[in-house]
Amino acid sequence: MSAKTKRPAKDYSAVAVDDLSPAHAAAELERLAKAIVRHDLAYHAKDAPLIADSEYDALKRRNAAIEKRFPLLVRGDSPSAKVGAPAAAGFAKVRHAVPMLSLDNAFDDADVREFGARVRRFLSFAEGAPLAFSAEPKIDGLSISLLYEDGKFVKGATRGDGEEGEDVTANLRTIAEIPSMLKGEAPAAIEVRGEIYMTRADFLAMNAEQEKTGDKVFANPRNAAAGAVRQLDPAITAKRPLRFFAYTLGRYEGPEIETQTALIARLARWGFRTNPETRACADEGALLAYYARIGAVRSDLPYDIDGVVYKVDRFDLQRRLGFVARSPRWAIAHKFPAERAATKLLKIDIQVGRTGALTPVAILEPVNVGGVMVARATLHNEDEIRRKDAREGDTVVIQRAGDVIPQIVEVVAAKRPRDAKEFVFPELCPVCGSKAVRPEGEAIRRCTGGLSCDAQVVERLRHFAMRTAFDIEGLGEKNVEELHGLGWLKRPGDVFRLRAHAGSLAAREGWGAKSVEKLLAAIEARRRVPFDRFVFALGIRQVGEATARLLAQHYETLAKWRAAMLAVARGDEAARAELLAIDQVGEALAADIAAFFAEAHNLEALDDLADFVEAVPLDKPATDSPVAGKTIVFTGTLEKMSRDEAKARAQALGAKVAGSVSKKTDILVAGPGAGSKLAEAQKHGVHVIDEDAWLRLAGLT
Ligand code: IVH
Repeated sequence: MSAKTKRPAKDYSAVAVDDLSPAHAAAELERLAKAIVRHDLAYHAKDAPLIADSEYDALKRRNAAIEKRFPLLVRGDSPSAKVGAPAAAGFAKVRHAVPMLSLDNAFDDADVREFGARVRRFLSFAEGAPLAFSAEPKIDGLSISLLYEDGKFVKGATRGDGEEGEDVTANLRTIAEIPSMLKGEAPAAIEVRGEIYMTRADFLAMNAEQEKTGDKVFANPRNAAAGAVRQLDPAITAKRPLRFFAYTLGRYEGPEIETQTALIARLARWGFRTNPETRACADEGALLAYYARIGAVRSDLPYDIDGVVYKVDRFDLQRRLGFVARSPRWAIAHKFPAERAATKLLKIDIQVGRTGALTPVAILEPVNVGGVMVARATLHNEDEIRRKDAREGDTVVIQRAGDVIPQIVEVVAAKRPRDAKEFVFPELCPVCGSKAVRPEGEAIRRCTGGLSCDAQVVERLRHFAMRTAFDIEGLGEKNVEELHGLGWLKRPGDVFRLRAHAGSLAAREGWGAKSVEKLLAAIEARRRVPFDRFVFALGIRQVGEATARLLAQHYETLAKWRAAMLAVARGDEAARAELLAIDQVGEALAADIAAFFAEAHNLEALDDLADFVEAVPLDKPATDSPVAGKTIVFTGTLEKMSRDEAKARAQALGAKVAGSVSKKTDILVAGPGAGSKLAEAQKHGVHVIDEDAWLRLAGLT
C-alpha cells in the first residue's frame, strides 16, 4: 500500500496470520475486502491502478490465508468468492426435537369448508359442531426455531428439510426482534418458532444501497431475508433489517397453554413480536371473512404475505388430530391467487442475446404487484406479441407468481388508445443494424450480423479463438470479455491489432509483460491458417468444422469462396446450385450462409480479418494414398503426434475420420489405453493397427 493511503485506526496488517485473534482476523478480513474492492475498481473501472500487481497479489494472498485459518469468518462479500473460490465451510447441522413441518394448502372457499368438515369427522364431532380457529397472515419469509433454556436464547436453526436445519445462532443473535432473554417467568426449555422477514420498505432501501455499492440485489424480501440469515458473517446479518414474528412452539417444557390464541398472547408477554392481525374465528364463515379482509388490506401491510393460515385453536384437539405425511391435520394455509395488476405498456423493447436471438421485453409503467415493483415483463417472442396483440400504449394485466418473471396475462382492449399501432417486429437488429431473420418453422428471429454485432461479439470472438478455429492460446472467454470491455476487441481482425495495446495491457491486473508477449506470439503464429479453420472461425450458423472443411475443399481459396457466396447471397441460381451440390449441404445451411454474406457488416469484418491473415488452401486430398476413401477412427493415446494432427493428416491423404467405430470403419488406429472402441472394432472385424503402423501408412516414417 502506498504511503499516501491513510491507515485505519485499527490496523493488524503487520500481524502474521498465525498470530491473529479471531476478532483481529475479522477486522483484517474487513480491511482486505474493502481494499481489494477499491483496487479492483481502480483497475477495472478507472484504469488507474493505485498499487503494483505484486502488492495487490499480496493482499489477495493474505486474505486467502486468513480465510483458510478462520473459515467461519469468511465474509459474504469475500474477495476470494468473487473469483470462484470454493464455498466456505457451511453451518453446523441441528436436528429438530420436534420436526418443522409444512402446511397443506386451500385455494378456495370449498377447500376451507372441506378442511373444517375433515377436522370434525376426524374428531367424531357432529357436522356443524362448534369449532374455534385461530387465523393469521402467512408471512412470506423464512421459518426458524429458537431454543431457550432457563429463559436464555441458546440455539437457533433454519427449517432445512424439516428434520435437520442449519445452526444460525450467531446470525440470529444480531436480530433485535429475537429476545436474548425471555421476559417474566420462563420455562426450563422452550422452542419458539416463527418467521424471519423483511418489510418491503426496508427491502427496497437495502436493495437501493446494494445497487449503489455494486452488491447483489435481491428479487424479493423473502430471498433477501433468507440470504441474510444464511450469511457466514454475522456482521453482515447485523446490517440487514430483519424482523421476526413468533407463531408456534416446538419443544415445550412448561405450564400448560390451552389454545393458539392464548399462546400468541403468552409469546407477546415473553417479549416476542406476534402478528397484530391474528384473530380468533368462531367458524369457517369467520375464516372466509378474515381471508377477504386480509386480501383487501394485503398491499397495505408493510410485509409480504402469500395467504393466511387457519389453525384449530384448542391444543388438546391439535394433539388428537396429529399429522398426516408432512403437514398437520389441524392447520391449513389459504393461499392468495397469483398477484395481478394493470399498468401501461410503455414500450416493447427488443433485446439481443449472445447468440443473436431477438427477444421482446415489455417496458411497463412501474406497478406494485403483490408488494414488488414490476417495470418489465417478458413477451417471449414475435408470435406471442401477435397472439396477445400487445401494442405500445396498451393497458395490460401483469401477473407475478413467486419468483417467476412477470408475465403479461392480457391486454385490456377497452382501454386501448385510438392511435395504438400494431407492433411490428423489427427485421433489423436493434444493436448493430444488421438484418434479423427468422427461419421457416422457428419461433425466434436472429441477428445475422454475427461478426460485428456488439451483443454477440464476445461469444463470436471466443468461438473465433477456440482450439478448433484459430486456436489462440490465452484468448479464452474471460480475456475476450476483458479486452472487449476495454474497447480493443470488436471483431476478429482486432485480434491482430492488439499489439498496439501491449503496454497498457501488461500494466493490468493478472497480465504482466510476460503473459502479454505470450499472447501476442500466439496471435502472430496465426497469420497463416488452414482455409477450413478460417471458414469455421467465422461462426456462420450451422457451419461446423466438417462443413467448413467441405467448403474449403470445394472452393479451394478464400477469394473463390467469397465470390461464390456473394453470388449465392445475391440470388444467383448457378452459384446456389453449386453450393447445394456439395455433399451434406442442404437448403437450411445454404440459407444461413447466404444470410451471413448478405450482411455488409459481416463482409467488412471478414475482409478486415483477411487483411491480416492468409487462409492457406488445403492440400488436395490424395487419391493415390493407401488410405484414400477409407474411414479411419483414432483411439487411445498417440505418442508421436496429437490426435488433431493425425486427423488432419488422414484427411489430407483422402481418408474420412470418424469419431466412433461402426461396420463402415476401415481402420482403427489404437494407441495405449484403447478401450471400448477397440472391442467394438474387433467385433466388426475392423483392421486394427498401432501408431507405428499408422505412421508408416501415412508415409511419415
Ligand atoms: S404454522 C406445522 N403459521 O408457512 C406447521 N406457518 O407452508 C406450522 N408460515 O413452514 C406452521 N406464516 O414457514 C404457520 N402464521 C404462520 C405462518 C407460517 C408463515 C410458513 C412457515 C411454514 C410454512 C408452511
